[in-house]
This record gives sequence, structure tokens and C-alpha cells, in this order.
Amino acid sequence: MSEAVLPPIGMLAELTHRCPLQCAYCSNPLELLKANREMATQDWLSLFDQAADLGVLQIHLSGGEPTLRPDLETLVHRLSDRGIYTNLITAGVGIREGRIDDLAKAGLDHVQISFQGAVAATTEKIGNYRDAHFKKIETAKNVRASGLPLTINAPIHRHNIDEIPAFIDLALELDAERLEIANVQYAGWALLNRNTLMPDRAAVEHQVNVVREAQERLHGILAIDFVTPDYFAVYPKPCMGGWARDAFMVAPDGTVLPCHAAGTIPGLVFDRFGEKSLADIWHDSTAFNAFRGTDWMAEPCRSCDRKEIDWGGCRCQAMAIAGNAAATDPACIKSPLHARMAALIEEATTSGGAAFHYRRIGSGMTNLAPDSTEA
Ligand code: SF4
Ligand code: FES
Repeated sequence: MSEAVLPPIGMLAELTHRCPLQCAYCSNPLELLKANREMATQDWLSLFDQAADLGVLQIHLSGGEPTLRPDLETLVHRLSDRGIYTNLITAGVGIREGRIDDLAKAGLDHVQISFQGAVAATTEKIGNYRDAHFKKIETAKNVRASGLPLTINAPIHRHNIDEIPAFIDLALELDAERLEIANVQYAGWALLNRNTLMPDRAAVEHQVNVVREAQERLHGILAIDFVTPDYFAVYPKPCMGGWARDAFMVAPDGTVLPCHAAGTIPGLVFDRFGEKSLADIWHDSTAFNAFRGTDWMAEPCRSCDRKEIDWGGCRCQAMAIAGNAAATDPACIKSPLHARMAALIEEATTSGGAAFHYRRIGSGMTNLAPDSTEA
């Protein structure tokens, strides 16, 4: 390593893989963990203490659906005590009355609710959950009534890309502070469902104009973040802000990972919290050091003036498309495989659209081909 390893700033805690929804774009791994593999309350508390000692400033409490953990208030309370900013990332369904208030009292700082569609039919179809839309709206109202700031997260794909104006109206109606228009990243279940989810180029180009216009029009009223679609990009995004650079994630069983899809990279060995301290894992884990900084890069990244801007893009996307995690992300125009992105768009948008492989515990590992259809 040529660079000193700085402390991490952010952590994503996947408290559970259990979830009432079954979204076909879920970023969780295909091999979902059952409840009996989840870390106990004391282990999470100990991990959070070590995260605070290590310098982590904000923790995203996610899943699956984190509110399925009955100890969520205890976890939030400890994080609040340690001065860590907490963001609850929830699907917003099945949350008992008064729970959002309880979490606010425990010290929760912020809530992000994902909407699968801007209208009820889309939300129900994508999440495969009846009445999900109305339940989410109710949760969003409870969040605002409890005084917490709200972000609406809109994962975008072929089936809802035309609903962006309606997503904007929904975020305004719900008094959200922020709307995240996030084009789906094709890893995990989204990779399995790529042919069904990929929008076409005309829809993507139209979307860019709609979002840009809304960002200007609503400046100072609603912050709109735009996560652009990698397959249509010229340069890649700095995935996770760069591998093991300022953030990491923890799976429900305590496995500590540089990113949510790192488990798809063969040959990397991931440490489990408890067997090693968080500080040891952050600084010395071979998986964290595998793609840290720029020393690992080959050409064209090695001599590129953007290498400390995007850090070579996404290692997991390089693995999925180039078959080599150390390759330049094919989203980059300088990658020799960049044309493959256009070919994959073409294949997906002309394939007729297979049925969704809905996210279910136990079903992912039997459906590894991205374009096969669900029975
Ligand atoms: Fe980024 Fe590598 Fe492409 Fe340069 S060549 S823009 S560093 S991915
Ligand atoms: Fe693993 Fe991008 S998802 S580096």
C-alpha cells in the first residue's frame, strides 16, 4: 500500500436479510441468511462500540427489513450514545403504530423509505406485496409526525422509469427533505433480473432531462440526488467511494465486507466480527487490501488522470462483466470491454422481458442465469 489507511466514515449494517417484500432488484446476495444466522444484540452493540472507536461517523441500519429486529431501539440507543448519526433504511411496511416515535426517542436521526413505484400498482408488483404503497405512505407520515427528516428512495428500472415526475410529486406531498432517484445497480438480485429490469436508451435519456429540470426547479425545496445508470455511462462511479476507502458493510452474521456484492469475487476471504476486531479487519484484512488505493490497477486505469476520482469504478461489476475483478470497470469508455455494456443493453431490451425472479430466501442460488425465467 502506498497510501496510509484512513479511518472509515460510514458503515452499512445489514441487521437481517428477512424482509416482507421480494424486490427483484434487491442488492442483497442471492444466498440470503436465515434468522438463525443473525448476530445477537450484544454482538451488534459490541461491533457498534468498536465502529465508534475506529472513527465511524454514520451508520445506515438496513437489511432486509431492519424493523423486523425487535432490538432495533436498543441498537439505535447505543449508537446515539456514542454520537453516531443513524439512518434507518426501511421498506416502510409492517411497522407497528408508535414504533417510529419509539425509535425517534431512542435517538434515531433520519429515515429513508424506498418506494418501488410512484403509484400503488407498481409498488405492489415490484415488491410483490399487497397494499405496500399505502403502508409506506402511512409510515412516511409517521416519520414526519415524529419530527424526523425523511428521504424517499426510488430505485429506477424499466418498470418505473416513466414514473419519475410522479415520484417527485410523491416526495413533495410526503414533505420529504430528499428524493433519491437511483438507477438500479446490476448486482445481486438485479443482476439475476437484468433482462427484465434494464430500461432502453430513449427512456434513460428522457429521464436525465426530467431529473435535471426538476433539480433546478425545486432547488431549495427538495434535494434530488441522481444515481446515474452505469450501463449507459461514459465513466464509472467511484463505487463505495473507492474500495475500502471510507465505508464498509456488515452482513447479518457479522461478516465484514468492502461492499454489498464483494462475495461474488472468487478468491477473496472475508473476516467475521468476533473472530477479529473491526480495526484489524479494516486495516489488515486481505480482502480489504486487495483493491485499496491504486497500486492494484492495470492499464488503462494505472496511467489515467481519473484514477483517484472513480478508483477504477466497481470491482464487482468488473467481475460480473469482464470476469476479472481487477479489470477496469467496463462502464468506462476506456475499457476494452466497454462495447459489451451496449450489447447487454441491446440483449436485455430486445429479449422480450422475462418474468421476475422475486427475492426469496432459498430461491436465489438455484437461479443463477441472469436471463432465465421464473417458473
Ligand atoms: Fe476510471 Fe480507470 Fe476509466 Fe480512468 S480508465 S476513467 S481510472 S475506470
Ligand atoms: Fe462491489 Fe461495486 S458493488 S465494488
